[in-house]
Amino acid sequence: MTLRALCVAGARPNFPKVAPLMKAFSANPRFLAKLIHTGQHYDDKLSKVFFEDLRIARPDENLSVGSGSHAVQTAEVMKRFEAVLEREQPHAVIVVGDVNSTIACALVTAKFHLKQPIRFRNETRTRPVMVHVEAGLRSLDWDMPEEINRLLTDVISDLLFVSDPAGLANLKREGISEHRIHYVGNVMIDTLLAAKQQAMTSPILGQIGLTERRYAVLTLHRPSNVDDSNSLRDLFKVLDTIAVDLPIVFPAHPRTRPKLEAMGFPLETSRWIIREPMGYLDFVKLMACSALTITDSGGIQEETTALGVPCLTLRENTERPVTIEEGTNILAGTKRESILSAYETLKKRPMQGRIPKFWDGKAATRIVEIMGALFPAEA
Ligand code: UD1
Repeated sequence: MTLRALCVAGARPNFPKVAPLMKAFSANPRFLAKLIHTGQHYDDKLSKVFFEDLRIARPDENLSVGSGSHAVQTAEVMKRFEAVLEREQPHAVIVVGDVNSTIACALVTAKFHLKQPIRFRNETRTRPVMVHVEAGLRSLDWDMPEEINRLLTDVISDLLFVSDPAGLANLKREGISEHRIHYVGNVMIDTLLAAKQQAMTSPILGQIGLTERRYAVLTLHRPSNVDDSNSLRDLFKVLDTIAVDLPIVFPAHPRTRPKLEAMGFPLETSRWIIREPMGYLDFVKLMACSALTITDSGGIQEETTALGVPCLTLRENTERPVTIEEGTNILAGTKRESILSAYETLKKRPMQGRIPKFWDGKAATRIVEIMGALFPAEA
């Protein structure tokens, strides 16, 4: 019997995570997997280019929810995804990461009853199996919408696939039973390793006029860093000090771009190169050849660790501590003193990190194998 699986992707960081999952599902004849794009990110530069760069097939459905407040966006995804479940009657729903689309689809799935019962492990049930990939990450910062999304998704998931050793410890501490948890490694690193060779042929450095290891890359989009013009101006004043040493390339997220224009801080053009958001391959090349990557993103902390590139994270906490303990990341905070002191540390002690366990390009294959083994032949 064919196992029907629905993979959900909504926002930019989801796309490199679903790419290897869709490939692994299509290589396993027991599964028929469909990709549902919620449309949380809809700009070509945040969405379409990733499908092209990562050769992900067109989504089977696009729910076109677009932007809105957290409540509006989450509710819109829920309403539209429920209709998909009704039609598709899937055995399993797979959500990745921690964006609003992740919790929205998880919540609908956890309460959904199928027309026909299914077999999973040794039981018969009428709800699809709810699967969270990249489970267990915790920043312990409840001001961060993603932390709420992660926690709630984990609680209502049947299968929790963990990418980082801290994820295991967090889920154990929260009392999640061990049979639901599997340490499989990092699907986003599957994508990075698969695409790296091609990414290194990108002409982006020449196009911008950059020399390898003579520039820094910046990404910034967390509401806590960019929504308030004063905080943003303070951050840019500090970064401007670093830019005297190393010109900074900044592909600005659409959320950040209008704030940047409003903040009124003159960015000296010889030190700053502001660009539109980049495609996956160009951005990997830019990171891989940088002297330093500066970010408030979650995924980039992991990608720089896998690439062995020094990373300064402009946040007070991280849900990805392995990137600091084993990798190349330094938590630099968001204040002038802490950022400059992290930068000085980094200059004195160039970092050579280790690659965390199972960040080896095979995480998605492990996930699909484990799932296949848990559905009996007559599921
Ligand atoms: C979302 C995720 C965040 C992730 C980030 C990566 C949540 C809560 N946040 O944040 O975890 O790190 O994506 O980019 O899910 N916009 C566009 N075009 C688009 C999408 C958004 O212009 O295609 C603009 C809109 O003005 C929108 C704003 O960006 O209101 C914010 O978009 P939204 O999806 O709400 O959150 P992100 O900040 O992108």
